[in-house]
Amino acid sequence: MFLINNPFAILSETVSPIFMQSFVILMIALVVIGTLVDIIHKKNVKYFFENAKKAKLSATKKLTTSERIGVISKTIISDIATTSELGAGKRRVAHVLGMYGTILFWVGSVIMIFCYSNQSSNTPSFWPIIWHVGAIMTVVGGGWFWFFLRVDVYSEAQPWYRIIKADLFVLALIASSLFGLIWSYLQSMNLGDRWDDKVFLVLYIVANLVLFGGVYWSKFAHMFYKPGAAIQKNLAEADGSRDNLPPEADAPKQFGLGITRENPKHY
Ligand code: HEM
Repeated sequence: MFLINNPFAILSETVSPIFMQSFVILMIALVVIGTLVDIIHKKNVKYFFENAKKAKLSATKKLTTSERIGVISKTIISDIATTSELGAGKRRVAHVLGMYGTILFWVGSVIMIFCYSNQSSNTPSFWPIIWHVGAIMTVVGGGWFWFFLRVDVYSEAQPWYRIIKADLFVLALIASSLFGLIWSYLQSMNLGDRWDDKVFLVLYIVANLVLFGGVYWSKFAHMFYKPGAAIQKNLAEADGSRDNLPPEADAPKQFGLGITRENPKHY
């Protein structure tokens, strides 16, 4: 069963583990550089802190350290760990599938490449299973989102095959997991001198270069920005500053009968 095979240990028969480890370090460096350049170019983090400082002036309550810790812990458990921003429904389930799938896939890759990538390595089956299951979850969650739920298709009636720059992240993410899975499967079949698994190994490498090298142009960095923004939003709600937005109206919700005719999906 290929799910319990460590593909990197098999690869080490032809590629040195040092090469694989250097590749992972290069990918991490690309993420750091891409995010920093993005921050410098967009000035989003500067704006974020200036805005937070400005909002603090209208706070109606000074939060104690334990209150702050409480708000931050709740944000981590709900907003970040379950992407509560996406509300109840398909969008949130698809995101949670893809997010945890990716985390499992990446953690599995790092552990297998750094700890078990020698020909003599005896990899506990736990890690290859984590890696393969993570890849499958990412393909299912990402594919569900891209084919059916992304706004262009879901709300704007664009055909599913229309590809724009905003799709760079999700498509590279799906591609790296999908090509990784196919490569691992073909490699485990021991096809000898045949080229099949090598083609998918090259595609897997290219997908990773696009995913990690494209941080500046893609939505990759949202996984760092979103948690920061969620913590700030919840702290601003708790201290009464509400990011300088007016409080919710204390009045009955009367929107007329039309409001129930269609679910909100026009963003
Ligand atoms: C490993 C971490 C994560 C991965 C792999 C991931 C993956 C994705 C993908 C593939 C998309 C679709 C992008 C597109 O519009 O094309 C997306 C969108 C989104 N993500 Fe994440 N994400 C991660 C972390 C997070 C976190 C921590 C949050 C919030 C705290 C978050 C909130 C969102 C939101 C609000 C959207 C927009 C969804 C929509 O348009 O329906 N993500 N994410």
